[in-house]
Parts: sequence; structure tokens; C-alpha cells
Amino acid sequence: MSAEPAIASGGVSPLEAAGRDQHGSFVDETIGIIARRGGDIVSFAAGSPAAEALALARVDELLTDVLARDGMRALNYGVTEGEQELREIIASGARARGIDATADDVIVTAGALQAIDLSARVFTRPGDLVVTGSPTFANALSAFRNHGARILEVPQDEDGIDVSAAARALRQRGERAALFFVVPNFDNPTGATLSDERRDALLALAASQDAVVIEDDPYAALRYRGADLVPLAARMRDRVVHFGSFSKTFLPGIRVGWAIADPVTVRRMAAAKQTIDSSTSTLGQHLVIAFHRTRDFDAHLVALRRLYAEKQAAARAALGREFGGVRGVSWNDPDGGFYFWVRTDVDARELLEAALDEGVAFVPGDAFTTTGGCRDALRFSYCAPTPDRIAEGVRRFRRAYDRVRARQ
Ligand SMILES: Cc1ncc(COP(=O)(O)O)c(C=O)c1O
Repeated sequence: MSAEPAIASGGVSPLEAAGRDQHGSFVDETIGIIARRGGDIVSFAAGSPAAEALALARVDELLTDVLARDGMRALNYGVTEGEQELREIIASGARARGIDATADDVIVTAGALQAIDLSARVFTRPGDLVVTGSPTFANALSAFRNHGARILEVPQDEDGIDVSAAARALRQRGERAALFFVVPNFDNPTGATLSDERRDALLALAASQDAVVIEDDPYAALRYRGADLVPLAARMRDRVVHFGSFSKTFLPGIRVGWAIADPVTVRRMAAAKQTIDSSTSTLGQHLVIAFHRTRDFDAHLVALRRLYAEKQAAARAALGREFGGVRGVSWNDPDGGFYFWVRTDVDARELLEAALDEGVAFVPGDAFTTTGGCRDALRFSYCAPTPDRIAEGVRRFRRAYDRVRARQ
């Protein structure tokens, strides 16, 4: 008797059949889609810092400084929780925002995204319910799902997640939430900021459920108007785990972010991290330390706010010029961050196809839900292109919109 081939015609290969599917992020996929298209595309898709912002870091000087000062240490393995000097810097930044933290409460992570993944490992068991606003950061939805959690998406508006709706939904389902995930400032993708009232209401709801609150806050420093709101972790320290990142304010490629929690949670996250990457890139951490040692980080943030406020103004003006009289298209006006949330009267995936043909890109709204909702909305990032390119990109976007409308 001869052995059957591993793949009979129409069969599934052993590798395909093994294991389980993984959820990814269409936001990340768009980068590949744009790269494969090639040519001249104005990208309103990426949530990555502008080239001008990266240049402000003058990283070549920093690298020379790091190698001269820290030498091989900056290129060796590091301590899992992070370089002590960086943990101090992060704790001090948190205290300036009213969060009661010392270096022992900090773990340095490979971006805020790794902190999210660690929190899914540490705080959720398969089948647990994670409550988020809808839409929300796509990669977080996938991280929680990949670790077996179920997602309860609750509507959100300009004031962030609708906490009463969350309480109602939990009551109706007769279920308890294990974890609430929120981006309180200049949310990705909607740009919304969680209001003071809702911050308190969310903490009260989490307490009533005995749930953990993840405050994922990488955009907090990028406020262009109005006053900062008190972070959730400054209102209730023992239930909130606070995440931040140097990706939006320094260099995303070095992958340095952090989590602030109690020391026991920090130890649990460190154990989980030890099976992933052992320690966050020491070179990346030393670049951040050198930046703080040799430059004025607050002045750097002032320069970034000026740069992005100008881009935001250019995007607002361009959308007004091109879509001001169009009834089916509207957008919001966040006080900071990288994003406008644009609502349309067409299918955003179809619109993206037409947009790519016209030389412009964005991320369709349904990428930020698990339910297939938000099909007529899109995330419009103004952070990367220059003001001139923003104006050109919105002209192309208008042409794409007109083409899709004409087909209907
Ligand atoms: C809300 C939110 N959380 C986390 C991240 C991930 O950031 P990092 O580069 O620090 O992993 C992003 C990046 O887009 C984000 O928008």
C-alpha cells in the first residue's frame, strides 16, 4: 500500500490545518497595499510620525553619543523590566501628569502595542469579555481576540465610549467584563477624547464589575487646543494600567513604549515578556535616554505640536474646500492627535479602490471593528504628508468620491 500524498487534490496542507487562525490589522495591511501599488500616492492611511518630526530627533548625533557613552552595554541584552534610567524618566513623566508612580511601577515594552498584548496575556482568560468603544484601535481588538477574549463593542461619540450603553449592554447580557480598553485622548481612529464625566463613570462601572481598565494613551502629549484632562490612572491607581509610547513623539522604529501598573503586575508582565523578546531593544532605550539627557524633551513636544497643528489646520481647510457643499460627507474636529473620522454615504472599501487609482489612500472604518460596522466611515490621518500634499491628496480624494457616487 502506498502512502497518500500529504496534500490530496482539494485538500488542506498539514500546516494550514494545524493551529488556529490569527487576527491581524488591516491598518498595517494598507502600508503593504500602498507599497505594492507604487507610484505617487498621498497617504492619509499611516498613523506614523511625519518625516519632518523624525528629522527633529537628529538621531545620528544621538547614536554617536550612545555608542561613545554606553558602548556595548547599549547593544547587549537588557533587564526585562527596562533600563533603570528610562524607567525613572517614564515614572517622572507620569508623576507630572498626576499619576502616582515610581520606577518600580514601570515596565518598558516594545511599543504600546506590546503592552496591549502583555495585558491580554496577564489579565484575560479565554472566553473573558473585553469591553471597548466602537470603533477602536484595530490591533488591540486583534490582540485580545488572539488570546481568546470575546469583544463587546459599545458605541462611542465625540466624548468617547458611551459608558451608560456599556453598563446597559452588560446588564442585558447578564455578563461581567474582565477588562475595559480605552484610548482616552485623541483616539485612534476617531480622534475623540473621553470626557471628564465619562472618565469617572467608566471607573465606577469597572469597579462595580471588578474589572481592569487599560488606559492606552500614546497621543496625550499631542494636544493642540484646550486643557489636558486628568488621566484615568491619576483618578484611580489600583484598577488602571496605563500605557504610553515614544512612537508618536520620538521614533516608532525603535519600538519603545511602556506600561505603568503595580509592581506585582509589572512582574507578571515581565514573565510574559520573557517568552517574547526577553527585553526591549537596549539600543532603542538608550536612544530615548540620550534624547532626554542631551535635549529638552518639553521643547521637542512644543515643536511637534506646532508641526501637527499646522497639518491638522491644512487638512481641515482642504476638507472644507473640497467637501464643504457635499451633504453625504462630514468629519469631526478633534483637539489633538493624528486623525479625523470622516463619514460618507458610500462604501469605504469601494472608495479606497477608487482613491488608490487617483493616488490617495486612507483606512476604511470597518478595519476598526470586529462587527463589520463603520463601512461608510474612514480614518483620515493628516500626520505624515506636508500641508501642500494634504491639499493635493484631498483634491484626489474628492475625485475618487465623485467617481464612486457616479456609479450609484
Ligand atoms: C491607540 C494606539 N495604541 C497603541 C499604538 C501602538 O503604538 P506603538 O508604536 O507604541 O506600539 C498605536 C499606534 O498606532 C495607537 O494608535
